[in-house]
Amino acid sequence: MTDARSIAPNDLRAFWMPFTANRQFKSNPRMFVAAQDMHYTTQDGRQVLDGTAGLWCCNAGHGRPKITEAIRQQAGELDYAPAFQMGHPKAFELANRLVDIAPEGIDHVFYTNSGSESVDTALKIAIAYHRARGEGTRTRLIGRERGYHGVNFGGISVGGIVANRKHYGTLLTGVDHLPHTHQPDLNAFTRGQPQHGEDLADELERLVALHDASTIAAVIVEPMAGSTGVLIPPKGYLKRLREITKKHGILLIFDEVITGFGRLGSPFAAQHYDVLPDMMTTAKGLTNGVIPMGAVLCTSDIHDAFMTGPENMIELFHGYTYSGNPMAAAAGIATLDTYAEDGLLTRAAELAPYWEDALHSLKGLPHVIDIRNTGLIGGIELEPIAGAPTKRAFQAFLDCYDRGVLVRTTGDIIALSPPLIIEKSHIDTLVGTIADVLKQLD
Ligand SMILES: Cc1ncc(COP(=O)(O)O)c(C=O)c1O
Repeated sequence: MTDARSIAPNDLRAFWMPFTANRQFKSNPRMFVAAQDMHYTTQDGRQVLDGTAGLWCCNAGHGRPKITEAIRQQAGELDYAPAFQMGHPKAFELANRLVDIAPEGIDHVFYTNSGSESVDTALKIAIAYHRARGEGTRTRLIGRERGYHGVNFGGISVGGIVANRKHYGTLLTGVDHLPHTHQPDLNAFTRGQPQHGEDLADELERLVALHDASTIAAVIVEPMAGSTGVLIPPKGYLKRLREITKKHGILLIFDEVITGFGRLGSPFAAQHYDVLPDMMTTAKGLTNGVIPMGAVLCTSDIHDAFMTGPENMIELFHGYTYSGNPMAAAAGIATLDTYAEDGLLTRAAELAPYWEDALHSLKGLPHVIDIRNTGLIGGIELEPIAGAPTKRAFQAFLDCYDRGVLVRTTGDIIALSPPLIIEKSHIDTLVGTIADVLKQLD
């Protein structure tokens, strides 16, 4: 057997890396070769504390035996079953388990392979749902500035990150955007939900007045926007959005790809903020990040609208070869078992006060212009270097990595989302390392 640690790739050209500065990376690669619990092992044998749960996905930490074993067993038992017109028990079992932890009123699960696919699936279901009910004019989709909904055409169209949109032509037509909720002049250094910004939800009334409700299918938002730098919803904002969407017959989709599976201290953000959407998109923590899988969760009202017509007819012309794949389903069940056994779907709530104090202890350090937190999520916004946006935060990322801590940056914001198994001593190391780095940063 070859030991992965002993292989030094001698040619890095072929792999075109996603969302990566390829030339920078390949000039000085950062390679992980193993992971266990809270730590990665680098190719040169260093331990790196995971401050980001991989990419917001390894909520139970790394190398969890139950998940690994479930995948191993499933691979030997049933490697693949056709996803269309055939089934296998574990896909049904996982769907039931997901409905069990979802908010009351969310009763059905449609499988995908990623967050991006979940988003495009939910958008398609929203449009098809209205058509199935005889309201085929409702095709318009409303997203939000600074929203991230993955990288497929639907997701980037409703998304609000210019770099992810501007290269790709006209995108979907018939899309509009709410304003983002980031108001640092009013809310800087807020602990938890900002006081100011509930009224930004009223902008939906303006869009309804402009387009007319009869043309609008759905509004999609991240209940807590992670990828553009941890934008926590202002108090009352999501409830107001729910009231307005309901009033106008517009579906509300929560993109829970990173907020799902315990990140805020409840299974989903919908429960945390006590707002029931019509659909929720998930992925990442669904299988602890170990095997690609996503799922769209929806109400019976949506599902049942399709269950009409002759029974031998396909009701929704949509799906993926790997929807509900046996190994992913097995990993999903084992992941939910692990979350339940370790109390991880609520652990973030227990640790949140300690986490919050630790993060806000960084206030006053060089370059720090805002700190935001909720559950086990943190955002530390740095003053950009004039004329060189993102450079300072990227340097902080490199310096943290050199000191044995993995953080993520987006723009000039350091975003933190550690595995939910994190201990207080790890929080001290994570925040202490960031403090040391900030003190010596240009
Ligand atoms: C809110 C949200 N939606 C969708 C996605 C896309 O997920 P994926 O990368 O699995 O396609 C992400 C990824 O970070 C996300 O944060």
